[in-house]
Amino acid sequence: MDKISALLFLFSCFLTFHPGVWGIGINYGLLGDNLPSPSDTISRLKQRSVPKIRLFEPDQDVLTALHDSGISVIVGTRNEDLESLASDPAAATSWVENNILPHSSVNITSVAAGNEVIPGELAQYVPDAMENLDAALSAAKVSATVTTAISMQVLSTSYPPSQGEFSAESATIMKQITEFLASKKSPLLLNVYPYFARTGDPLNVELNYALLEDGATAVLDCPFTYNNLFDAMVDSVHAALENVGGSNVEVVVSETGWPSDGGRDASVENAQTYVNNLIRLVSSGEGTPRKPGKDIDTYIFAMFNENLKPEGVEQNWGLFYPNLTEANSASGMAVEDECKLKFLELKAKRNYRFIIFKIQDQQVVVEKLGTPDESYENFTASLPSDECRYAVFDFDFTTNENCQKSKIFFIAWSPDTSSVRMKMVYASSKDRFKRELDGIQVELQATDPSEMSFDIIKDRAR
Ligand SMILES: *[C@@H]1O[C@H](CO)[C@@H](O)[C@H](O)[C@H]1NC(C)=O
Ligand SMILES: *[C@@H]1O[C@H](CO)[C@@H](O)[C@H](O)[C@H]1NC(C)=O
Ligand SMILES: *[C@@H]1O[C@H](CO)[C@@H](O)[C@H](O)[C@H]1NC(C)=O
Repeated sequence: MDKISALLFLFSCFLTFHPGVWGIGINYGLLGDNLPSPSDTISRLKQRSVPKIRLFEPDQDVLTALHDSGISVIVGTRNEDLESLASDPAAATSWVENNILPHSSVNITSVAAGNEVIPGELAQYVPDAMENLDAALSAAKVSATVTTAISMQVLSTSYPPSQGEFSAESATIMKQITEFLASKKSPLLLNVYPYFARTGDPLNVELNYALLEDGATAVLDCPFTYNNLFDAMVDSVHAALENVGGSNVEVVVSETGWPSDGGRDASVENAQTYVNNLIRLVSSGEGTPRKPGKDIDTYIFAMFNENLKPEGVEQNWGLFYPNLTEANSASGMAVEDECKLKFLELKAKRNYRFIIFKIQDQQVVVEKLGTPDESYENFTASLPSDECRYAVFDFDFTTNENCQKSKIFFIAWSPDTSSVRMKMVYASSKDRFKRELDGIQVELQATDPSEMSFDIIKDRAR
């Protein structure tokens, strides 16, 4: 499996199979001259169960492709339109009429007035553009919230996170925006790039800390401890919001990602590490130290490498090839041939009672074979209490009519005590692995021994 395929596969299978990560969205940027059509792109996203996307502008072809797709979307205004949207309520009304109303079957959750214009020339227009868009959407009975997307540039200080503060040039505008968001219960969109924080200051920002790796040196910010840069960056904005009365404003991470090429620390391995750690982090339900206990609504940047952007890292953030290749159709998570061989033997020769499989170095391998005289208790005793496994069990039983029968069970063992990362890896590869085992009759998922008791097995065998 080449490295890009590994990245795509891991990413796609997390999104496709693991319900816990359905919170993850993707930015759909269009600055490439080799990109697939919107309808091909949207149908591939549907296959991958991607629940939501963000658009930088109200591209009519993409919005049309989204009709009845079930995919929800954040739609941005073009930065060039901010001035007119701010100065004229009628401009906001026609913007909504032209860009939103034709797409009533699309779940448009938010409209973002501009992207990363604060601080700067266009910043002054953002609050009024938000007000006018909000009024126009309400008048048209569209329930989308109105917001804007900011970068970390709005802060003068972000370290330590508790000192997060809007800079002098941004403060007035950010305070107005915060008041609007708080009153409307709209989220603030934040673009968060640990990559740039790391490459901007490689001496002080450890690569593993930026990659959200376990075991990176933590940053202490009493009473909080930061184990990764993503949480620290998001919390510095939470702190800045609190200072201006926005402690209840939700922060949605509208962009984050890691480039696979084109600059320092940009590699496929790092991109893969970052995306996988990110998915684990934002869907763990742990939240950030300052806002614990909540999944962080997050959009990964980006769908494709965009070749019309400036050369270098800017062109290398894509998660999908332009040809939308299914990276996992040919290779994907490897399954050692022995898994299939032993399963065929169990099926045809009945020479094993059970087989236990584990994932090791991105491969599914056989861990243990049970002999025909071993019992169901022998089988359950062979499953580790704090690690996930897949297993196959050949269950013999006698029907009420006194017929000897057997059923082959597939068991996904995912005890609550195993790590979140391990549970995700097993959950995300399960369907792919099961497809390799032709002849499974019953599937059972268990997170604790009571869910796979002998009585349940007997019951399910009927
Ligand atoms: C629209 O999308 C949001 C967020 O993804 C979701 O919570 C909501 O249920 C969706 N609404 C409809 C009508 O599908
Ligand atoms: C898709 O693009 C990738 C990267 O350019 C390439 O390796 C792969 O062979 C392409 N697949 C197809 C089916 O064209
Ligand atoms: C199966 O379980 C029985 C009863 O607990 C035990 O005596 C026996 O040694 C086990 N067999 C194996 C192969 O572990």
